[in-house]
This record gives sequence, C-alpha cells and structure tokens, in this order.
Amino acid sequence: MKEFSKDFWWGASSSAFQIEGAWDKDGKGMSVADFNSFKRSDVQADTKVATDFYHHYEEDIKLMKELGLKTYRFSLSWTRIIPDGDGEINQAGIDFYNKVIDCLLEHDIIPFITLYHFDLPFALAKKYNGWEDRRCVDAFQRYARVCYEAFGDRVKDWQVNNEQNLMIRVNERMNMYDVAPEDAEKVRVQMDYHMFVAHALATTDCHEMIEGSRIGPAVSSTMTYPASNKPEDVWAARMNDNFKTNYALDMYCFGAYPGYYKKYLKDCGLEPITKPEDVAILKQAKPDFIALNYYRTLVASYLPTDEAHPLGTKEKDIDFDMYGYFKVERNNHLKSSKYGAQIDPMGLRLVLNDYYNHYHLPLIITENGLGTPDELTEDKKVHDDYRIDYIREHIAACHEAIEDGVELFGYCPWSVIDLLSSHQGFNKRYGFVFIDRTDHDEKNLERIKKDSFYWYQNVIKQNGLTTES
Ligand code: BG6
Repeated sequence: MKEFSKDFWWGASSSAFQIEGAWDKDGKGMSVADFNSFKRSDVQADTKVATDFYHHYEEDIKLMKELGLKTYRFSLSWTRIIPDGDGEINQAGIDFYNKVIDCLLEHDIIPFITLYHFDLPFALAKKYNGWEDRRCVDAFQRYARVCYEAFGDRVKDWQVNNEQNLMIRVNERMNMYDVAPEDAEKVRVQMDYHMFVAHALATTDCHEMIEGSRIGPAVSSTMTYPASNKPEDVWAARMNDNFKTNYALDMYCFGAYPGYYKKYLKDCGLEPITKPEDVAILKQAKPDFIALNYYRTLVASYLPTDEAHPLGTKEKDIDFDMYGYFKVERNNHLKSSKYGAQIDPMGLRLVLNDYYNHYHLPLIITENGLGTPDELTEDKKVHDDYRIDYIREHIAACHEAIEDGVELFGYCPWSVIDLLSSHQGFNKRYGFVFIDRTDHDEKNLERIKKDSFYWYQNVIKQNGLTTES
C-alpha cells in the first residue's frame, strides 16, 4: 500500500483560455492566447468555446466533487477582469470568478488560483510590446492586487504565473512578432526579467494583503540526462536544466540570477535594463512553495560553437539547443506518448528530490498527464487505460519521493476535464472527463466520465495506491 498523508492535496488542473470559452462575453477583452488561437481556427478548435466552462461551471464543479478533489488548480483570465490589461475593471469578470470560487467552497474544494497562464492581454502586447516595457510590470501588479482584494477573503492559495520559464521560449506566447531576429534574445531577456520583478511584487503583495496566504511559482520542470558519461555531456545536461528552469527557480527563491546565468548574459551582451530598487524587491519576495509541472525528461550532449554559431546561439524554441552549451537528444530507453513526450516516472522522483534538496521548500505538482486522442465508444465510454497507467506510475514516483524525505503536499494532474490543448486542439486530450466535441463540431459538449475518472476517484478515496490499484 502506498498511502499518503491525511491532508495530502489530491487535485486536478486547468487554465482559463483552455477551458472557459466565452472569449468575449460580458466584457472580456482579447488575450494573446485568443489572438494566436484564432490564427489557427481553420485547422483546430480555438478559445471561443473551448470546453465552455463559463456556462457549465456548476456541472463541472459537481463532477470535481464526485471525483473527490480536495483542490482545484485553475487560472483567472486577466482580460476578463481588466479587459485591456491596465484600464477599467470589469465587474462582470469578478462576478464570474466569485461564483466559481463560492461554488468550489460549497463543495469543499480548495480554490488554488494562478493569476496568469499564458494569456497576456492583447492590448498590452500592442501598447507596450508586452513584458518588454516596465509598464507591463505595473499593470500586472495592479491586476494581482485587484484579485487579492476581490477574492482574498476566500482564496488563500495562489500561483503568480504558469511556466514563465517555458512561456519565455515561445515567441507566440510573448507576442514577439515585430522583433528583428538579431534583437530577439535581448528582448526576451528583458521580458523575462520584468516578469521576475512582477512575480516578486505579486508575491510580497499577496503576503501583505491576504492573511494566511501561500503563494509560489509554477515552473515547467526539466530533468536532463547526459547523453554519455563524457564530462562535457554531463556538464551539458546540467546546463540544459540550468538554462531552462533552475535560473528561474534561483531568481524566485533567492532573488538573484545564479553566477552561470550572469556570466552568459555578460558574455553574450544580453544584460537587461534594471532599476536600483529591484534588488530589494527581488530579495524581499519569499515563495511559500514551489509548484512544478512535469511531463517528461530530456537528454543533452555538449554542443561546441563554430564560426556560424557563436556562443549562446539558440536553435528551436521550447527544447532549444544552445551553442557552447548543449544539444537536446532523444532517450532510447524510454517510451513516448503519441505526441512524442518521453514517459519517465523515475524522472519525477529525481526532480522532486533535486528541487527539495536545493530550495528546501514544500513542493506541489500542478500539472502531470498524458495527452492522447481518446475514443468514445458507441455506448459512451472512454477506456483510457493508458492514462491510468501513466498516472499510477507517476503517483508511485511521488510516493517514493516522499519516502526519500521530500515534502510534497499535493498532486494535481492535467487536466480535470478535456480542454483545448495548446498545440493540438481537441485531438489531444488530457482530462478525466471527456467533452463530446471535435475541433470543428461543438456538438452538445456533453461531459462523459472516462475510466480514468473512476480510477482516480478510487485513488483519492483510498488516499493512495493499493496493490490492486
Ligand atoms: C503545459 C501548460 O506546459 O503543458 C498547459 O501549462 C498545456 O497549458 C500543457 O496544455 C500540455 O501541453 P499541450 O501542448 O499538450 O496542450
């Protein structure tokens, strides 16, 4: 029997633009996520309807209760609350989230809120080129304070943003369309830095404005194996983790960039513009936990520079290679999902141990799951044993990490119900509940419990895995 502590947070996750729909209803403004999804509307579903949580939230929260969730990790849409990002407050947006929060609490589910999950207000992207401009920091700080003021009497658990460390690698998410390629890295570093300042301000404000609150960062975790035991490859693997995730965790937890990162910024002429007061702002912010999203692991080998690729040149976006540092490789020892993610429960045990031993903060998993094209049978069932296997093995890895001494207080798989995948619409599904729609036919949006729903319900009931589960 792999039993968890009595107060372990069994949860599940979602994000606003992927689940809500009603993209312009009741005064909501357009976000960068909406804008980008509309560009692909002819090939896959967009954010207009998505799962239509906006109109189904009561039904969906009832399902969460039936599933047995102790917590629901979801995000607020900045543009539902402040449609243009830094202008007027939209009371209808606040009213909607009040209804969601109250409904969760009525069902004894702890609301666990992310303020910003990839959906920067499009107006800020246009006005300021988004995070490149310091005024975006002010806009975010104000938005966060509006949320604390509106919901802080009932919501104590917060995440500032989702996967800043991944978001920053993807031009589309940062709305970096008009930036000349030769300026791209400089702009990216500036945007990233501003997000760190905003993160710090929102962390400190949360502690000051909401009594008993807890807030922390959510990172897209990376765990990289060296391609061989050559010392250069071992260094490359470390650097891949450092440049994709750990530099960000250091900034959140210690309020400064680590040495290797400062060296890179200096060597490549990328140092951001800062303000003298930032030093104190960044140092003062103290996260209460680290949330990590975990899907897969990576492999890296050393990538030397050459004439055409001087130090720091990057290729690709999410899994970028960097000359003078690392090149991402495949792992021949692991199975992959249909969409190429390499499945590795042991990697989760490793990364949980790493983060805990390095940062000494409680941890929670806020995303973990298997994206697949599920099939609905004629008698309306979804036999997703592959998802059950994936989640079972990852829960077992969590248990092992806890036995290793890691303070892990929750597990929130992605996703509570099917939602818009960020790249493959409704072809790629993650939920415990099937949404009867396809990319281009919304049908009736019926909610159908998958086999994994009943399985996870049982895990929560038993508070862990028994030999039969
Ligand atoms: C995470 C994001 O990185 O990965 C989610 O936080 C996203 O928003 C999830 O949906 C899975 O990625 P995808 O591309 O399969 O939807």
